[in-house]
Formats: sequence, C-alpha cells, structure tokens
Amino acid sequence: MKHYWKKLYAGLSWAFYKLLLVVLNLLPMKLYQPLYASPKAYTTRDCHDRWTAIEPHLPQGPGSLLDIGCNLGFFTFKASEKEIMAFGVDADPFYLMTCNAIKTTEKIDHIFFLKGMIDKKYLEQMPSYDTVFNFSVFHHWVKAYGAEEAQEMMRILAGKCNTIFFETGQPDEAGTKWAEKLSFMGDDPKSWIAQFLKEIGFKNVEVIGTFSTGLTAVDRYLYCGKK
Ligand SMILES: C[S@@+](CC[C@H](N)C(=O)[O-])C[C@H]1O[C@@H](n2cnc3c(N)ncnc32)[C@H](O)[C@@H]1O
Repeated sequence: MKHYWKKLYAGLSWAFYKLLLVVLNLLPMKLYQPLYASPKAYTTRDCHDRWTAIEPHLPQGPGSLLDIGCNLGFFTFKASEKEIMAFGVDADPFYLMTCNAIKTTEKIDHIFFLKGMIDKKYLEQMPSYDTVFNFSVFHHWVKAYGAEEAQEMMRILAGKCNTIFFETGQPDEAGTKWAEKLSFMGDDPKSWIAQFLKEIGFKNVEVIGTFSTGLTAVDRYLYCGKK
C-alpha cells in the first residue's frame, strides 16, 4: 500500500475515534466508568477512589498487568501510566472500541485491549501476568457459569498471577439480581472473600478499602492479594 493511502487511513481512523469520544461525552447517557483523559461527569462509579487505594499496593518496577472486565479501560490506562505493560480484556465490543479510541487519540503505545468472553477455557489458555485486576466481574461469572465454576475460574486465575486486586458483588446487596446467587458467601462476605483468596494461593490478603458502587447503599470491599 502506498504511503499516502496509509496516512489517509490513519487520519480517518483518528478522526472517527475523536468524534466517537466527543459524542460519548455529550450524550446524556450514564457510563459505568469515567472516560480516561476526558472524564464524563455522569458515571456510575467514580473509580478515582479505588485507584487511590490501589496505587500504593502495585508492585514496583516494570511488569505486566491484565484488567479483567476492563469496561472503558479506566484502570488499564491508569496502570499504563506506570512502568507496566497493561492489557484490558472485555466481552463488550462497545467498550473495546471506546478503549481503542482513547488509546489512539491519546497516543498510548504500551497498552492493549483484547475482546474476549472470559470463561474457564479462556483462563486455562491465557498466559500469566504479574498482576491481575478483577473488579466486579466475579458475580457475573457466578450468574453465567454457576458458583462452582466461577470459583474454579478464580483458582485457575490465581495460578496465572502473583498479585491480584479483587472486588465482587456481594450477597448483602439486597434487591440486586446477583445477591441470592452469592448466598454461598454466607452473611459475612468480607471474611468469606478474604478466606477464599487465601485458599486459592494468596498468602497476604488485605482489604484496601470499601467503595460505593452507585447501585445499592452497600459498599464493596476491595482486596489486594499477594503470594
Ligand atoms: C460491572 S462492570 C465492572 C467494570 C470494571 N472492572 C470496574 O470495576 O470498574 C463488569 C464488566 O465486565 C465485563 N464482563 C462481564 N462478564 C465478562 C466475561 N465473562 N468476560 C469478559 N468481560 C466480562 C462487562 O462487559 C463489563 O464491562
């Protein structure tokens, strides 16, 4: 392909992505996460609060990170500000396109977005990462695959990282579609989750904060687990 066609193609892609982000910022629709570098005011979750809690616990120096259920990539982009090669994976093509729009318009190279519906097979086949973010996706796994399989998926995931940051929907979030399905956690989800993370291989498990979800009045625990 001639050089000028390549330039035209790159220019048109950039313009399309830029337009997409402008429209997304203007539309009166609520997004789950803020848009990185052009924060939309109207979002379900603030995310900066969780990032402030996570940052001091991140492993120092270069490394790799997988953000599972990355959504609009807020945490993947934040991690990429460090010496980290950051990968975000999500099943939803709308989120993926938006993440790639931000990556392109902000000219960030060491970040990658993957489209994938994570299930047991995906986790078995994927490579290892130094650090994994798994925020508010586990209860989707329980809903989609059942409690036993979701826990098995966490076991496989634990074998593929040294550090995990973990948050999940909880059984005390009354009125939600997932509360009943998480009843296996009993009436003390805080202890159940900590114990579970230890069982699957993380020696040091710490609650690093509790955060509002914007969905119910119950805050979710955010954990850091290290081997
Ligand atoms: C509740 S949002 C959480 C987003 C983000 N992790 C956070 O905490 O801010 C759940 C995200 O996980 C994605 N998701 C749910 N199930 C998934 C699966 N099995 N594989 C990949 N992505 C999934 C959804 O598309 C959505 O973006």
